[in-house]
Amino acid sequence: MISCSSPPVASGRGLRLLVVLFLLFTGTAVGCYTSIFSFGDSIADTGNAINSGIIVESVRHLPYGQTYFGHATGRFSDGRLIVDFIAEAMGLPMLRPYLAGGNAEDFRYGANFAFAGATALNASFFEDKGFQFSPMEYFLGVQLEWFKQLLPILCSESNSKDILSNSLILLGEIGGNDYNYAFAQKQSIQEIRTYVPSVIDAIRQAVDVLIQLGATTLVVPGNFPIGCVPAYLSDYQSTVAEEYDPQTGCISWLNELSEYHNSMLLDELNQLRKVYPHATIIYADYYEAVLNILRSPQQFGFKTPLAACCGSDGLYNFNWSKMCGTQMSKVCSDPSDSLSWDGIHFTDAAYSTIALSLLDGTYAYPSFTEACTNFQQNAALSQ
Ligand SMILES: *[C@@H]1O[C@H](CO)[C@@H](O)[C@H](O)[C@H]1NC(C)=O
Ligand SMILES: *[C@@H]1O[C@H](CO)[C@@H](O)[C@H](O)[C@H]1NC(C)=O
Repeated sequence: MISCSSPPVASGRGLRLLVVLFLLFTGTAVGCYTSIFSFGDSIADTGNAINSGIIVESVRHLPYGQTYFGHATGRFSDGRLIVDFIAEAMGLPMLRPYLAGGNAEDFRYGANFAFAGATALNASFFEDKGFQFSPMEYFLGVQLEWFKQLLPILCSESNSKDILSNSLILLGEIGGNDYNYAFAQKQSIQEIRTYVPSVIDAIRQAVDVLIQLGATTLVVPGNFPIGCVPAYLSDYQSTVAEEYDPQTGCISWLNELSEYHNSMLLDELNQLRKVYPHATIIYADYYEAVLNILRSPQQFGFKTPLAACCGSDGLYNFNWSKMCGTQMSKVCSDPSDSLSWDGIHFTDAAYSTIALSLLDGTYAYPSFTEACTNFQQNAALSQ
């Protein structure tokens, strides 16, 4: 059994003081939270999809996982994901996927509900639009239901608020697939833009639910610059120079969709901060974190910023019929040269660079350090 009211990592005033001192010296948030709960899609899925029985054949074997784990783990990368680096920085072990555990001990340090292919919106939204394939059924609302089912297993009802208030919640990235599926249905950019308010509303509802359950520190990432993703660069390759950002080589009109999503998300988060002043809602700027690398890739050690490491052919080393993990694909000699692993997801090296820029406060608002200080002060007040 785990004890809910006495956190295993930072319990007692003495330790708390040490944590504060440690924070002052390191500028990070080590020891602040006793667990992490994560929601999202393949950017954060550490094994739910492959544990669910859903066939994601290519991800079940090498080269997925080759750089860090030496075997496939269900992560859509050659190594670790942003969520892994955040857990490490918080002094916590890597999160167990929800579908790979059962009892309280398994989820002592939190759980990961992220599921590859997940959307922010309910599957019914896409069915109503007449989408010809059914999007993944493990959308955000389902992940929240899983979480509610897990809470009583972790603790008695009265203590679940304790667990949550000592936890860091990673809500996303989520929403990228809502647009991916619409693009796959060959919808126009104008039509896809009309989805944005609904996607943001689904994210807002999730924040509401989590805070009402007792969450006090949440990280909500924005969307990536999809116009820099090899799959999109390849699908929408154009001879019209004006469609490209001359500095990065990304497709501007695609990035504008991400910018629209992110600006609407930021507005919503500002509203939520007013509604829930006791909660700390961190916006993680995945968009700028990636663009910043693409503006000077060499500076971060990336030699091939826009082509996938694992793939097949073409300018961006991406072809839907020869994707990474299939027999026709090949892997580059050094994945750390590449930002993109498989044309859709990033490499261990890229996730590491992105995570660092979030953790050091460059692309997280407020910073993790500030969030941790708020957290320590609130904890002290409630004693
Ligand atoms: C979406 O799904 C969640 C969880 O399954 C459910 O609680 C909610 O009512 C659904 N919303 C709509 C608009 O269908
Ligand atoms: C993708 O691969 C298929 C099968 O080999 C080939 O016919 C097609 O031309 C390739 N597409 C691109 C964009 O290279």
